[in-house]
Amino acid sequence: MLLRNVTLATMQGDQSYGLVPSGALIIDAGHIAWVGEEKDLPPNYNGPEEDLSGRLITPALIDCHTHVVHGGNRSNEFEMRLMGASYQEVARAGGGIVSTVTATREASEEMLLKGALRFVDALLAEGVCTLEVKSGYGLDIDTELKMLRVAKAIASVRDVRIKSTFLGAHAVPAEFHENTATYVSQVCIPALNAAHAEGLVDAVDGFCEGIAFSPADLKPLFERAMALGLPVKLHAEQLSHFGGTEMAARYGALSADHLEYATEADAKALAQAGSVAVILPAAFYTLRETQVPPIKAFRSHGVPMALATDCNPGSSPIASLLLTMNMACTLFRMTPHEALAGVTRHAASALGLFDCGMLASGMRADLAVWDVEHPAELAYRIGYNPLWRRFFGGRAK
Ligand code: NIG
Ligand code: FE
Repeated sequence: MLLRNVTLATMQGDQSYGLVPSGALIIDAGHIAWVGEEKDLPPNYNGPEEDLSGRLITPALIDCHTHVVHGGNRSNEFEMRLMGASYQEVARAGGGIVSTVTATREASEEMLLKGALRFVDALLAEGVCTLEVKSGYGLDIDTELKMLRVAKAIASVRDVRIKSTFLGAHAVPAEFHENTATYVSQVCIPALNAAHAEGLVDAVDGFCEGIAFSPADLKPLFERAMALGLPVKLHAEQLSHFGGTEMAARYGALSADHLEYATEADAKALAQAGSVAVILPAAFYTLRETQVPPIKAFRSHGVPMALATDCNPGSSPIASLLLTMNMACTLFRMTPHEALAGVTRHAASALGLFDCGMLASGMRADLAVWDVEHPAELAYRIGYNPLWRRFFGGRAK
């Protein structure tokens, strides 16, 4: 299939979106067979074609950090925070992550899937074709496995690729009375072993923070991930500087995520490790944080920056990557080019994927076609979705 009369944002190169104004793209067997200027089309092509009237094609979007599988909601905590309580105070009072754990343990797989699909459908409607989903609201072996099975099940009922991440080290459940080391050895590591044996784990994550786990607490988990050959990532430096980024870099992590309190030294460490900085502006916005992640340091040290929704019921109740892009530009002064690279090319790297996130021959034909003239419009408008069509593995959706 030839798509002609299009503008292409190939996302190749480091600026200007890899823009090709009078472009064309050929899809064959689910992959991009050819991409370039229409005047250079291979002369021997004689398959079907479609004129896209000058619309913009970008790589399909990738949401590389979500918690879409969870029970219940936390609108009560939204109200508590508006009355003056902080996110940490709510967590210490038995709310926060632990309250979602109760609701997630009670929910059946069917209920969890149905709940997750509300957010998945909103994301797909904005051109997403790949989605990362974390566990971490189970905090016992059975519920962690249940969450990961539901995460994988999303791909059997929707046209989307799922990467599932084990986040057993998200919080210490009440029954362990803050005995973190025992929780890691008795629940986290056995749950990881069982989930890996079922083929449910693509990466291992943790929450490195004063209200969660220290680098020392996480060490045995990361060592186990290494032994299993699984890549790691880490929620790091979200609410304070706690050493997570440096640890993530030491383990060659795919990514370190949040990073509001990361330092220049952390940026250097990520650059050296080749890890992606995953920026989550909707969590910053929701918690009314004031410490902005060190975007300039990431830029100057050449750390690739991805952007994700962090869609979760507590700190980031958002199901829009387009709004996330807008927030990254307005709140963090990222450029529209960086925002689009953050939800395509660099989001792919944050998931260890090298077959998507750019328009280049050989890549999967996961495409988003937009009714806009220029790619900067994607980050510029607020609450408006210009998606015209999505292609998943070469098939129009
Ligand atoms: O990415 N930071 C830790 N984990 C989630 C929050 C989860 C929650 O509040 O339920 C996050 O922001
Ligand atoms: Fe998160």
